[in-house]
Formats: sequence, structure tokens, C-alpha cells
Amino acid sequence: MAFFTLRLTESDVVEMIDQRKLPLEVSYVELTNYKDVYDAIKNMIVRGAPAIGVSAAFGLYLASKSLSQSVRDFDAFKSEFFKICDFMFSARPTAVNLGWAIERIKSLVIKGNGKTVNEMVKDIRAESLRIFKEDVEINKNMGIYGAKLLKDGFRVLTHCNAGALATAGYGTALGVIRAAVENNKRISVISDETRPFLQGARLTTWELMEDNIPVTLIADNSAGLLMRKGKIDAVIVGADRIASNGDVANKIGTYQVAVLAKENNVPFYVAAPLSTMDLTLESGDEIPVEERDASEVVNVFGKRIAPNGVKALNYAFDITPNKYVGAIITEKGVLYPPYKKSIAEAFGK
Ligand code: MRU
Repeated sequence: MAFFTLRLTESDVVEMIDQRKLPLEVSYVELTNYKDVYDAIKNMIVRGAPAIGVSAAFGLYLASKSLSQSVRDFDAFKSEFFKICDFMFSARPTAVNLGWAIERIKSLVIKGNGKTVNEMVKDIRAESLRIFKEDVEINKNMGIYGAKLLKDGFRVLTHCNAGALATAGYGTALGVIRAAVENNKRISVISDETRPFLQGARLTTWELMEDNIPVTLIADNSAGLLMRKGKIDAVIVGADRIASNGDVANKIGTYQVAVLAKENNVPFYVAAPLSTMDLTLESGDEIPVEERDASEVVNVFGKRIAPNGVKALNYAFDITPNKYVGAIITEKGVLYPPYKKSIAEAFGK
């Protein structure tokens, strides 16, 4: 893969591919403080649940490093650092990986009582790099399990971008596709455009073309026709949060695709790491759904397309009830309904 999504350099710069500009411009931003990382998450320079989690971890490392230059007392450091953790958590509400990564760093600090501030900063750096590295490994494991669900010759619809660009690398839904291709299966992908941010049209098509995986772009409203014509063999999407009953929050429009898939007997799969599961929630009704600025709907690439003054709604995610989900592919194996039981088992409960 000729690109990378994000990384922490030896000299402590967080570099990210600017996903707002892809595919027309391939450029990277260099971030040197946590506020810029927060802005990058909020403004979607980086996006996708796992990538947001890794970004937050890197951002918190930058915060801890700069804090250590003025605060030497461990308790004072902890209290200031936790305020920054709360700030980072507020960047985007739906993807639970953000809170998951922040909690991982926080628990390290809680266990770090007795260490010097400098030692703690070193530990936070190491932990953020571990979160990064583990994410790629988890995605590869998901690929091993999920690839078995895709037969040679399958035409697979995906929504949004759940690829290398949405993770530390390899991808969740696109990771499963990559793994099937690596197993010599001839897979072709149908990517819907995913209005309004166009993650499908801009990002999924680009990253698959970079890897020479056949991809065809369709308008969002074409999925039903293609399924009815028998031109789609399976759907695979990622997730931003999965409740303990298997209800799935993912990019707005996922629910429509899932309902169409059921109606047309097309299997609908979700690929997501265990860090995307929120066992504190009974059902998807409790998942906070981000509402973004209406400007994303009334403009396309900065050009106004709707009348001035028109009202617009911009929910960024929707909830797909578990009855539409054929299987959830995780790094621990493929989970099947009833999800209350299979998800709990995946956590060893
Ligand atoms: O608003 P985004 O682009 O962050 O939304 C991303 C998605 O909905 C992805 O499908 C999801 O995060 C899974 S990423 C592996």
C-alpha cells in the first residue's frame, strides 16, 4: 500500500493523510499538539471508528508530553491530563472506539501512581503505539475469519469507507475483502457513494484502486435495483458502535442497505473489532447519533447545491436493528444471532 492513514513519527509528529482532500489531492497534515488532533477528528481529516481511537491515543500522548514540561507533580499531572481526556472524548460522539482508546490510556495513568511524570509520558507513548499496532493485527484476524464468508466470484456491496483509511491499516469490511482477494478469490466490490461526505465515492474507490481490487461506484439509490437484479452477492459494512444485543450504528444509509438486503435475500455482514462493541448498552436505541452541520448536505465540495435558506438535516449515523445482521465478523471469530449470547461469549462472559 503506497499510502498510510496515520502514524506517530520518531520526532513525535502525528502525520495523517488528509481525507477531506482525497482522491483529488493526496496530502498529509502534520500535527504537533493535541488540540490539532482534536480538530482533525472533529473536521474529519481522519475518520472511521478505529482510526479515530488511534488518533485520540496519539493526541493524548502529545498532550501528556507538553503537560510534563510544566507539571512535575504526578497528581496535578493526572488531574490536568484527565481534563484533556474529557476534551478529546467530546470530538465525536458515536464511534465508541474513541472512548475505548481514551479509557485505555486513562487506566494506564490510574495504575501509574508512584511513577514520575516523565516515566508516565513514556508509558503513554508506548501504549498509543500498541493501540496502533494491535489495530492492524486485529483487522488481519478479522480478515482471516471473514474471508470464509465470501465465495470466489462474489460481488460485494460496501457502504461508507471501512478500509485502511478508517483504521490504522488494512481495514475492517475492506480488510475482509482484502483477505479474500489474498486467498485468490475473485471478488469485485460495489461501492456506494455515501452522501453527504462521500466516503464511498472518494475513499473506498480510491483505496481499492490503489490495491488493484476491482470496484464499481454506484449512486446510493442504486443498491435496491442491483440487488433485485441479482447483481450483489453479499453486503459488508463496518460499524461505529454495536450494542450488546447486536444493533449496529454505522454511517447514515447503512440501515436502508440492510433492509434492502433482507428483502432481496442478500447476506448482510458487519465487520468490527471488539473495541467497537459497547456492552453497557442494551440496544441501539441508546447509541448517541452524531448530528453534523447542515452545510455538508447543502454543499458538495464547497459548492452550494440547494436553495439558500432551505432547512437540512444531517444525521451522520443510523442504527441497523440486529434482525437485519446476518453475522458480525470480529477478531475472535464470526458471531451469529442471538447476538446477546454470542457477543457476551466473545468477551468471555
Ligand atoms: O463519519 P465517518 O466517516 O467517521 O463514519 C465512518 C463509518 O461509518 C465507518 O463505516 C465505521 O467507522 C467503520 S470503520 C472501520
